[in-house]
Amino acid sequence: MGDIDPSFIQSTEHRPNLSTFIQVDEIPIIDLSESKQENLISKIGKACEEWGFFQVINHGVPSEVSSKVEIEAKKFFEQSLEEKKKVKRDEANAMGYHDAEHTKNIRDWKEVFDYLVENTTQVPSSHEPHDLELRTLSNQWPQYPHHFRETMQEYAREVEKLAYKLLELFSLSLGLTGDKYHDCFKNQLSMVRLNHYPPCPSPDLALGVGRHKDSSALTVLAQDDIGGLQVKRKSVGDWIPVKPTPGAFIINVGDIVQVWSNDKYESVEHRVVVNTEKERFSIPFFFFPGHHVMVKPADELVNEQNPAKYKPYNVGKFYANRNRSDFNKREVENIQIHHFKILD
Ligand code: OGA
Ligand code: NI
Repeated sequence: MGDIDPSFIQSTEHRPNLSTFIQVDEIPIIDLSESKQENLISKIGKACEEWGFFQVINHGVPSEVSSKVEIEAKKFFEQSLEEKKKVKRDEANAMGYHDAEHTKNIRDWKEVFDYLVENTTQVPSSHEPHDLELRTLSNQWPQYPHHFRETMQEYAREVEKLAYKLLELFSLSLGLTGDKYHDCFKNQLSMVRLNHYPPCPSPDLALGVGRHKDSSALTVLAQDDIGGLQVKRKSVGDWIPVKPTPGAFIINVGDIVQVWSNDKYESVEHRVVVNTEKERFSIPFFFFPGHHVMVKPADELVNEQNPAKYKPYNVGKFYANRNRSDFNKREVENIQIHHFKILD
């Protein structure tokens, strides 16, 4: 056994097989500056159906904005644990610093800093369906690095523009109007996460992030040049590493787009492997609607032959359920979209 805390050790079936590095296939790279809109829409539709994941280049987010974020994130994580814990997330506030996520008592080999795209926003106080009370979520900002807050907010605003553009392209590729879902993102619960994966003494036993799907509508991920993200290939079920492409963003379909598209596009499983040598940084932007939104398959996509596969669910209640303060102590499964599936 490796010399890591046993709580990080994945059960045998989930351990990464680090010896198979023959790369057979790659997720598509899409150039967003493509001048023919129809071509762009059909490439995106194809990538969403076949992979649920793709990379984008010429996406409009200035490279200076991305590099500043990387520098500030590095400076933040380099501080002592004591300093970082001054902005620690707790039961009252889910935003800020935390050093491990637990799934069924297994920990992820990483530390993170979370912040909301809207500096304050509201969510239901509890997951109970009849409790209509709301509470305010707000960001916690560290004193150091000195330009951390403005750098992070600038980044969020830039990536948000890209997220709206992708939302429009996703909608068009499904045959819907481009602005169909635009208003759902008023009072959005979108969040940016700074991930730091330190080198790990036993990367064969642990994972940076265990297998999961994103519950967002879509995710826009920046990664550095180390690599480690793996995507489950839909057709075969094997794990495909996503090769770092300088300056590109990785885009994936989240659970909400899966429901809106009535399963035409699927939210695909992914995970992160770690390595003994190098630390890795990544920054996902999770694009989430406002708490009031009811998520259900688009009316335009359902008919008698293709009935709705999901019952409507509320974004805020879903969020509150995921963030239940008793969650880490529970053995039961986190709430998932398949709990809203209409079984036939
Ligand atoms: C996540 C995630 C991937 C990465 O934080 O949800 O999938 O490469 N991260 O860090
Ligand atoms: Ni993810």
